[in-house]
Amino acid sequence: MRLRWNKGKPVVLTTERFVLRSVSQRWIARHTFAWTENEEVMAGLELSAGGWLLRRWRRQFTVADNRNRLTLAIFDKRNDRLVGYETARVVGGKVALIGVVVGDTDWWGKGLVLETHAAVLDYLFDVRGCVRAWGTPFGRNFASIYNYQRLGFKKEGVLRKGGRSADGDASDLVAFGMLAEEWQAIRAENQT
Ligand SMILES: CC(C)(COP(=O)(O)OP(=O)(O)OC[C@H]1O[C@@H](n2cnc3c(N)ncnc32)[C@H](O)[C@@H]1OP(=O)(O)O)[C@@H](O)C(=O)NCCC(=O)NCCS
Repeated sequence: MRLRWNKGKPVVLTTERFVLRSVSQRWIARHTFAWTENEEVMAGLELSAGGWLLRRWRRQFTVADNRNRLTLAIFDKRNDRLVGYETARVVGGKVALIGVVVGDTDWWGKGLVLETHAAVLDYLFDVRGCVRAWGTPFGRNFASIYNYQRLGFKKEGVLRKGGRSADGDASDLVAFGMLAEEWQAIRAENQT
């Protein structure tokens, strides 16, 4: 699938159930601020729930340029409700670090991430010409680890004490990587 994209222009990706649209740092912070009260959501990010200031929450997000720093808000196609967001940081034009949050917990356990990550990988490899995408969930984030495995990412190692948890301690991150040719092979296999 080849998607149209111009440098720095808004990015829109469509999947079966969702539309992903690039948004600004200010927009995503404002529209997801209520999720900072949700312990389950914040736990996956190893952040504490409650007591956040919008200003501080905003700093969790990159200043998006729709080019090398992207935040893609995920909307339910049926009603245009915001249900989560994907992030991608492209370094050197070739290597993308990705992440995802599903803030609407009604959508947990429904394969959302498998669908939206697939669209983001298509975009990064086919449109942006990236050679590698990778993610680094916390070692305790079983749902996220499971998703990376299910999508066919390879576990490349553990970044010991690679991330900071809510209580200020260092926590292990697990590195999952996917190369462009591996994603191509996975897609080809899924089509047969
Ligand atoms: C991580 C997140 C995006 C996953 O959402 P999701 O894909 O809907 O998660 P699911 O509940 O479907 O879990 C994915 C899989 O992991 C499995 N799983 C979840 N918790 C598990 C556990 N403790 N042990 C083993 N397997 C587990 C689920 O059973 C599911 O597998 P299944 O489809 O075969 O049932 C969502 O939980 C979230 O947004 N969390 C907060 C933010 C976050 O952690 N982001 C990721 C940062 S790296």
